[in-house]
Amino acid sequence: MVYKQLQQRDMASPPVNISALRDMKRDRQPIACITAYDASFAQVVDIAGIDVVLVGDSLGMVIQGHDTTVPVTVGDVVYHTRSVARGLVHAFLIADMPFMSYTTPAQALDNAVRLMQEGGAMMVKLESGQGQLAVVEYLAKHDIPVCAHLGLKPQSVHKIGGFKVQGRDSAVAAKMLEDAKRLESAGADIVLLECVPNEVGRSISRAVAAPVIGIGAGPDVDGQILVLYDILGITLGPTPRFVKNFMTGVDSPLEAVKRYIGEVREHKYPAKEHCFS
Ligand code: KIV
Repeated sequence: MVYKQLQQRDMASPPVNISALRDMKRDRQPIACITAYDASFAQVVDIAGIDVVLVGDSLGMVIQGHDTTVPVTVGDVVYHTRSVARGLVHAFLIADMPFMSYTTPAQALDNAVRLMQEGGAMMVKLESGQGQLAVVEYLAKHDIPVCAHLGLKPQSVHKIGGFKVQGRDSAVAAKMLEDAKRLESAGADIVLLECVPNEVGRSISRAVAAPVIGIGAGPDVDGQILVLYDILGITLGPTPRFVKNFMTGVDSPLEAVKRYIGEVREHKYPAKEHCFS
């Protein structure tokens, strides 16, 4: 059932690619993104009309039940990316490079190739700073599309001492802005910003030509991403401020994802209560 749909590509709505995402930034059309980890949910979010699907290493927490993303392996992400790829017709597919899978340019290239060839990813995402410039440059030189993840970097949770908002301090915010510009110059095609004040999201998305996708980065970025299980209200217990349960008032995951996409496109999500300032 999942596979039949792949033979029914609707060319009136062609698959999203990196040029389409750049055009959306240029036209100020918000990019709606979400995580997914399996073929069935991939099919749901694709039918709902999502632009970008990320197979995030958040799978370590929401699928595998770990407290952090640190235990996730390249094999895990390849497996889930391959499953998600089978459910997608329209959305652009990004896969996360897990903890310690990109410590050198050569290692990063080997693992990015696995995510693309075995998993079917169209882009890889890595938690980046200036320490990853050489890696991003090397991947870009080999025509691997790259998403640079800045702000809160969950793979560094033990180093930073918890999941905390980043960039409240003006020197840290300035450094993040500089990192974003340098990563773009090194070849990053997309910047993902996690858990930063609105002002930081705004200044980075204005300063770089690449689309900037935010999670807890305020309304003035080029797109939004949330973890699927959070928007479906599956995640129990305390959730971060930027999480919104889109299942409230609807009766299916498909309707909830459509509602999320609609609110992103109409600039209704994130609202003030989902932001850090
Ligand atoms: O792993 C993930 O799901 C992510 C999102 C939080 C953007 O990186």
